[in-house]
Amino acid sequence: MSALPLSDRIALVTGASRGIGRAAALALAGAGAHVVAVARTQGALEELDDEIRKASGQSATLVPLDITDGDALDRLGLAIHQRFGRLDLLVHAAGILGPMTPVSHIEPKHWDRVIAVNLTATYRLIRTTEPLLRAAAAARAIFLTSGVAAHPRAFWGPYGMSKAALENLVRTWADELEQTKVRAVLLSPGPMRTKMRAEAMPGEDPDTLPDPSEIGPLIVELAQAEGLGLPSVNVAFADWKTAATRASA
Ligand SMILES: NC(=O)c1ccc[n+]([C@@H]2O[C@H](COP(=O)([O-])OP(=O)(O)OC[C@H]3O[C@@H](n4cnc5c(N)ncnc54)[C@H](OP(=O)(O)O)[C@@H]3O)[C@@H](O)[C@H]2O)c1
Repeated sequence: MSALPLSDRIALVTGASRGIGRAAALALAGAGAHVVAVARTQGALEELDDEIRKASGQSATLVPLDITDGDALDRLGLAIHQRFGRLDLLVHAAGILGPMTPVSHIEPKHWDRVIAVNLTATYRLIRTTEPLLRAAAAARAIFLTSGVAAHPRAFWGPYGMSKAALENLVRTWADELEQTKVRAVLLSPGPMRTKMRAEAMPGEDPDTLPDPSEIGPLIVELAQAEGLGLPSVNVAFADWKTAATRASA
């Protein structure tokens, strides 16, 4: 039997309790990676672990934490260092929508929370994981972003601003790592059938949207991508899906 494509790879997935992060964790584990799954909801992480065990026979490492707790992220980095000595893959899917409201109506506490979860935690995650990613043979760091980062839309201010800042931060960081084997991907999933999307568009029929499981194979592909010459690349799920559909037609 041939080895799975991601056998022996260590993958840290944030937002693994539901939605796109959960789909990424399942797909990566299915491809042979050992998944370190991060989110706040312990019960949902345990359900993920059960599903991974059923599907692949291996277990995940569950890390219930709030990503705004930078010290907890640092402790996680130390634990990964002690146990594995490196990190082959980071998928940073944790995020929040924040309030959908005119910019002038944003409550300061909601503004601060969006910055803390979507932006500051991304910086802390990069700070914690960079030495681990550098220690891998060819690490990939995938950050979930959104179309509103480049195309601002009324009422999406806090979320769009935080994703635009995340993109700038990731591109800057990746540029600094040009001479290393670490490569960063900004992955735009487009609308997907998740809790966040339902919160943003409550009137939308979720059945018209792709299930997050559809993005799993793309994440597995990106985890192995040899051709990522540039320090960072932007990838859109919709483009990948169109290309995959054409190729199979
Ligand atoms: N769905 C879409 O249509 C869409 C479109 C464009 C971009 N995206 C991006 O894709 C990513 C995943 O979105 P999704 O739709 O899957 O969202 P989701 O269903 O709401 O899931 C968000 C995940 O983030 C985790 N999370 C939130 N705050 C956290 C915190 N403080 N600490 C730790 N974990 C936290 C949640 O886990 P806990 O609650 O258990 O902590 C959950 O696992 C996000 O970055 C989002 O911006 C989504």
